[in-house]
Amino acid sequence: MLRKRSAADYLPAKLSLASLRAAAAGCRGCDLYKYATQTVFGEGRSRARLMLVGEQPGDSEDRDGRPFVGPAGKLLRRALDEAKIAASETYVTNAVKHFKFVERGKRRIHAKPKRIEVVACEPWLEAEIRVVRPQIVVALGATAAQALLGPSFRLTHHRGEFLSSPLAERVLATVHPSSILRAPDDETRRVEYANFLDDLKLVARAVKAA
Ligand code: URA
Ligand code: SF4
Repeated sequence: MLRKRSAADYLPAKLSLASLRAAAAGCRGCDLYKYATQTVFGEGRSRARLMLVGEQPGDSEDRDGRPFVGPAGKLLRRALDEAKIAASETYVTNAVKHFKFVERGKRRIHAKPKRIEVVACEPWLEAEIRVVRPQIVVALGATAAQALLGPSFRLTHHRGEFLSSPLAERVLATVHPSSILRAPDDETRRVEYANFLDDLKLVARAVKAA
């Protein structure tokens, strides 16, 4: 039987953040590398107690080669700051390491990765967790949550709970900062941001207690 393509074929023999980053740059584990500019690997503290996992790089991240440098990243950093979590103490990455988009004229619009792409990319996330060994992993949005907790995970049912995953002992799923930016009006945005902040404060307390 033909084995499915995945990032597993590109994993380095010796796992370190540097070796993973170098190997991921040449990953062809699914088709997304064909259209994106570059692999956007995770970055941050090598032994961070807290790891934050987004969905996939966006337009700015694809150009820069760094995770969460665009508008969603700005909102995330503001919330981390308010929750008294030092961003420099965290490790930040994405479930999928290449930007998936559709072109609309000159603009590149985010497209949701398929389950097969999330699964293909999972070996990178798994290896990042194995190397960094965070106490807590925060899944930002449903794609990251399902990568960590399985496809039947529902954010609407289990948001803000500490759960265990085959990949990490303690995972908490919350919304993606982009969903806050997409809120239909200011009042909804304010409420959604406050709820997001509450989740991060919960995480901040748990990291301190651990
Ligand atoms: N959204 C994500 O999920 N990740 C990024 O790196 C940027 C935006
Ligand atoms: Fe590899 Fe992930 Fe990029 Fe697919 S999205 S090519 S699995 S790094």
